[in-house]
Amino acid sequence: MLVEKNAPLQDCNTFGIVASADTLVRARSAADVQTFAASPVYRGRRTLVLGGGSNMVLTGDVIDAVVLKMEITGLRLVEETERHWIVEAGAGERWHDLVAWSVAQGYGGLENLALVPGTVGAAPVQNIGAYGVELQDRFHSLDAVDLRTGEAFTLNAAQCAFGYRDSIFKHAPGNDGRGMGLAGCAVICAVRLALPKSWKPELGYLDLQRRQQEEGVAAPTAQQIFDWVCAIRRAKLPDPSVIGNAGSFFKNPTVTEDQCRDIIAREPKVVHYPMPDGSIKLAAGWLIDACGWKGKTMGHAGVYDKQALVLVNRGSGGVSVTGGEVMTLARAIQTSVYERFGIRLEPEPVVV
Ligand code: EPU
Repeated sequence: MLVEKNAPLQDCNTFGIVASADTLVRARSAADVQTFAASPVYRGRRTLVLGGGSNMVLTGDVIDAVVLKMEITGLRLVEETERHWIVEAGAGERWHDLVAWSVAQGYGGLENLALVPGTVGAAPVQNIGAYGVELQDRFHSLDAVDLRTGEAFTLNAAQCAFGYRDSIFKHAPGNDGRGMGLAGCAVICAVRLALPKSWKPELGYLDLQRRQQEEGVAAPTAQQIFDWVCAIRRAKLPDPSVIGNAGSFFKNPTVTEDQCRDIIAREPKVVHYPMPDGSIKLAAGWLIDACGWKGKTMGHAGVYDKQALVLVNRGSGGVSVTGGEVMTLARAIQTSVYERFGIRLEPEPVVV
């Protein structure tokens, strides 16, 4: 366990927001996390667990919490069952490195999730998803440490209570209706994925179907889909190492069939997808785009010009966007989408 004082955080969040932590603790093993939890120095202090910092907006100059930076590494095959390869990754590994490694080993199943920013430990928190696959579709189990007791524990998929960009790790204890939320009190140390031996390509998304037709490949391999997803994402999402951002800034909202019919009557072009439970998901990017926000800038915060769902850092010459500027822009977008469509957009990143 490595402890730093007055640590700068600009390089620890993909928005590139300038902020610092009065205490930053680097955890390189689950034992480090347990030592941290047991230490009287940190007990009772608010802890901010940081993975790749790809899904958060830092709004203060100095973060009012001890920052626990997860740096546990390791990628390995832990088990082979009749139907699955079970692979395990340390929470501090980059998610994309796990995807690239598993595909290269011949274990398909994660390729649609290529280039999702962030670390392995952050992936279950918001049940990352892209191109028709969500983490929960491949999830086996995870190991975590309870910050209140220092105890290590394991959760299976049902215990994680996954939903759309949601899990038990996003709900405060006692605040999820079942008194079981783990937000702020559990740290994920390792994640195991069950990758199917009878692998089948997942090509339900229009973008992937188009690419398949262009390439003229009837039966693509996991490696080919991995390459296509990388190309599609690079074409429409900004690379955080070039333009700071936190991926999709808002969740895609769901409405009832009646609400959707009402919106279609006024806005016939609204992009919508029927969900298995009968509700309808609307494309937040389309709603924001329709309100004219694409490419706009407020202060040093901007709306990406190729995908209106992504807010970006337009700071330059040593000046960075502040968390306050990002949130001001986010609120202005929420207001115009509400005024035009009657829909409240919910931010996806954690606001600290
Ligand atoms: N659209 C517009 N204008 C825009 C943006 C989108 O008209 O500026 C339209 C598109 O033409 C398309 C629809 O909206 O018809 C949906 O857009 P897209 O396919 O880009 O997907 P999305 O719903 O905006 C979601 C995820 C992404 C994920 C993609 C692909 C959420 C909040 N976002 O975006 O996840 O990569 O699908 O599966 O669910 C992330 O979470 O950070 C992320 C990037």
